[in-house]
Amino acid sequence: MYVCLCHGVSDKKIKQLVLEEGIADMRSIRKCTALGSQCGKCVKQAKQILNETAAQLYKQAC
Ligand code: FES
Repeated sequence: MYVCLCHGVSDKKIKQLVLEEGIADMRSIRKCTALGSQCGKCVKQAKQILNETAAQLYKQAC
């Protein structure tokens, strides 16, 4: 599913950045994908996906 329509960023891409690249903050997601840099409507949902994925990663590690 697309999270950021302006830049074509999907939930899958956000999860991939967290799980495979170790990115865990919105600033880095934005830097890699330009997510949120146009209308900004996607930022809240992207943050939620980022937090949920990071929490899954933390659970797996502990
Ligand atoms: S939907 Fe992401 S900047 Fe517009």
